[in-house]
Amino acid sequence: MMERNTPLVFLVWLVWLNGCFLFEVDGLRAQGKFKQIQRRKSSKPNLLELPLRSASSLGAAQYFVTMRIGTPPKEFRMSVSTCSVLTWIKCSNCSSGKVSSDMRFYQPNKSRTFRTIPCSSSFCTSDLISSNANEVCPTRDAPCRYDYRHKDGTRLVGTIGNDTITIRMKGNRKVILENITIGCTEAKNLQIDYPLDGLLGLCPERQSFAGKALRQTRTTSFSYCLVDSSSPINVSSYLVFGGSKQLPNMQETDLLMGPWSWSIYYHLNVSGISLDGKMLHIPSDMWLYNPNGRSGGVILDIGTSLTVLAAPVYDNLIQGLLPSISKFEKVKTEENGDLEHCFNSTGFNETLVPKLTIHFGNGAKFEPPVKNYVIGQDIKCLGFMKFDELQTSIIGNLLQQNHFWEFDFPNYKLKFAPSICISD
Ligand SMILES: *[C@@H]1O[C@H](CO)[C@@H](O)[C@H](O)[C@H]1NC(C)=O
Ligand SMILES: *[C@@H]1O[C@H](CO)[C@@H](O)[C@H](O)[C@H]1NC(C)=O
Ligand SMILES: *[C@@H]1O[C@H](CO)[C@@H](O)[C@H](O)[C@H]1NC(C)=O
Ligand SMILES: *[C@@H]1O[C@H](CO)[C@@H](O)[C@H](O)[C@H]1NC(C)=O
Ligand SMILES: *[C@@H]1O[C@H](CO)[C@@H](O)[C@H](O)[C@H]1NC(C)=O
Ligand SMILES: *[C@@H]1O[C@H](CO)[C@@H](O)[C@H](O)[C@H]1NC(C)=O
Ligand SMILES: *[C@@H]1O[C@H](CO)[C@@H](O)[C@H](O)[C@H]1NC(C)=O
Ligand SMILES: *[C@@H]1O[C@H](CO)[C@@H](O)[C@H](O)[C@H]1NC(C)=O
Repeated sequence: MMERNTPLVFLVWLVWLNGCFLFEVDGLRAQGKFKQIQRRKSSKPNLLELPLRSASSLGAAQYFVTMRIGTPPKEFRMSVSTCSVLTWIKCSNCSSGKVSSDMRFYQPNKSRTFRTIPCSSSFCTSDLISSNANEVCPTRDAPCRYDYRHKDGTRLVGTIGNDTITIRMKGNRKVILENITIGCTEAKNLQIDYPLDGLLGLCPERQSFAGKALRQTRTTSFSYCLVDSSSPINVSSYLVFGGSKQLPNMQETDLLMGPWSWSIYYHLNVSGISLDGKMLHIPSDMWLYNPNGRSGGVILDIGTSLTVLAAPVYDNLIQGLLPSISKFEKVKTEENGDLEHCFNSTGFNETLVPKLTIHFGNGAKFEPPVKNYVIGQDIKCLGFMKFDELQTSIIGNLLQQNHFWEFDFPNYKLKFAPSICISD
């Protein structure tokens, strides 16, 4: 069952593997947006539900859905990221580390519905892929390839095509989504033992899974509810396309993705952070998104586990948190990975941790419970990381857990409310 002391280093790794800035090094170009969500006539239902689970018992601070890909369909566990354009699956078995017995591989040449996307297509050169894709286009019809490198050595290399995704819903209903762009990642370059089969990209881009699922189901919003990250694998909530929920204490704030923006991330209009009701003195330019530099501001990502903060935000927040808890016994072990402030859980009193509130421009407030930012079982760590290179902050999935989140596109709103998220 659930391993209670999954080393925290997993959390840190997965920030980079799934996180928003994995692709930043190559300057992923992504011009398309959800400019308009077309309403087309189709026989598709206007509700799509995928059970969503925590992967903590598999050793990853991620949330995942299960879906069937290809024809005949084969089942895969896909971690969910709201920061990735590309949906990808592991395609080979040459992982440098151990291969777990239930690991699955996608074999595009065994799927009747797989179509390679040529590297000369505008789709490859401009819509989807990083600038260095062109360097690996030897002939017009050669497959579109990606090679995303990150400074930590993580590398995703593979070939892009379209394939069909089949989703089984309650009551034995099946929803088929066509032409979903899927990257076939050669796992030998993944370099780490990633416990899931691939990644589902939900970024605000027309070619992402989110863009295509919204169009094909004729829906205009998607939502997810994050069960507690320590939940066992048999506990699920849903990733839902379509529908709309009203929950008690629902808050609403703007998604900064109007026509002036070309972000591929879900930027929020944050106005400040307070601890126990006292605003921290954080320079206000930390909240400003710069569309040209594609940096700055605050984004929400379900694929990033820890909350990553621009240095001035991190420093202010930590300075505000530490005085009340510095009397507890500090621990420094390798297991903490990059987390700076960890304490022995014996004698640690959570009620002394200041209450964090993230304030939005329109007056909405996000007030996560303490356990969303003081994380871990045997040792308690402040679940924040400093982002030195960019002035961008990312609200990660640990901070978002036990809440419902809805992305409402016609209105460019983010709605959220506390919820235990347990569905039948
Ligand atoms: C992948 O490799 C493992 C260990 O080498 C092996 O047991 C397994 O059968 C392989 N799976 C596939 C699909 O080739
Ligand atoms: C299918 O793809 C695998 C690797 O992706 C390759 O080794 C194999 O030769 C291919 N088979 C056919 C029939 O093309
Ligand atoms: C892949 O799907 C897109 C629609 O998303 C379509 O425009 C394109 O023609 C497809 N490519 C191939 C090679 O089938
Ligand atoms: C999928 O792509 C093919 C080839 O481009 C096209 O004929 C078909 O209409 C597309 N289907 C959808 C649902 O986009
Ligand atoms: C999940 O599994 C555990 C043990 O296997 C069981 O005790 C628990 O009731 C299950 N929970 C749900 C929601 O099915
Ligand atoms: C935490 O404190 C307890 C009791 O003082 C001690 O036994 C344990 O070794 C400490 N754990 C760490 C990780 O320092
Ligand atoms: C934690 O601190 C609060 C406030 O000081 C106190 O009321 C409570 O008894 C403490 N709990 C423990 C377990 O020490
Ligand atoms: C953010 O909210 C503030 C306060 O409501 C408002 O003045 C500002 O224009 C908003 N920023 C953006 C980019 O919408």
